[in-house]
Amino acid sequence: MSRSATPPLEPFAIRFGESNQTLEPPGPTLQRRMSDLAGLFADTGAWERAVADGDPLVYTVSSSPVPETPRELPQSITTIYPGQTGGEFWMTKGHQHPDPQGEIYLGLDGRGGLLLFDGERAQWLDMAPGVIGYIPPGWAHRSVNVGDEPYRFLAVYPGSAGHDYGWVLEHGMGLRARRGASGVDLVPYRAAEPGSAGAPH
Ligand SMILES: [Fe+2]
Repeated sequence: MSRSATPPLEPFAIRFGESNQTLEPPGPTLQRRMSDLAGLFADTGAWERAVADGDPLVYTVSSSPVPETPRELPQSITTIYPGQTGGEFWMTKGHQHPDPQGEIYLGLDGRGGLLLFDGERAQWLDMAPGVIGYIPPGWAHRSVNVGDEPYRFLAVYPGSAGHDYGWVLEHGMGLRARRGASGVDLVPYRAAEPGSAGAPH
């Protein structure tokens, strides 16, 4: 007998929506604008200017109706729009799973990267349509758009894994992905520089 207050779902089919942007039937969606990424880009001044200059949409997450509850297996499609802030590619906030469990990301469209960090070691996986990036338990993960088109991937993860975004603010991600002459430059992580917002006048 399940301890969950929510009864298990009945089997059902889930399909990719138009242009792989959504899952059908749809579930919850969220939008992350530049202002939602406070403290994440190394160049805080560039981040502040981007927020002031229209606060652009950086990425969206569209889920199926499968809930984030124990023993369920939710899915979502993330779309990261192309861009750089202070030379750093646009990216997701990144998170750690409070309950360490694995996850897979399947590349759908565009060119991206999957940055993984276990607190000591950082790994970078090149992502493209048809590539499955495997995230082992205990590795924080962030996705990055390294191309000129939207980068889109499907995530499938255990419903009880949870999302800890504060872990990344505290520990970083080991590397940063910047646009370089030959494509992607992975540089050692450094914390965000203090912004002008908190500076004395
Ligand atoms: Fe995750």
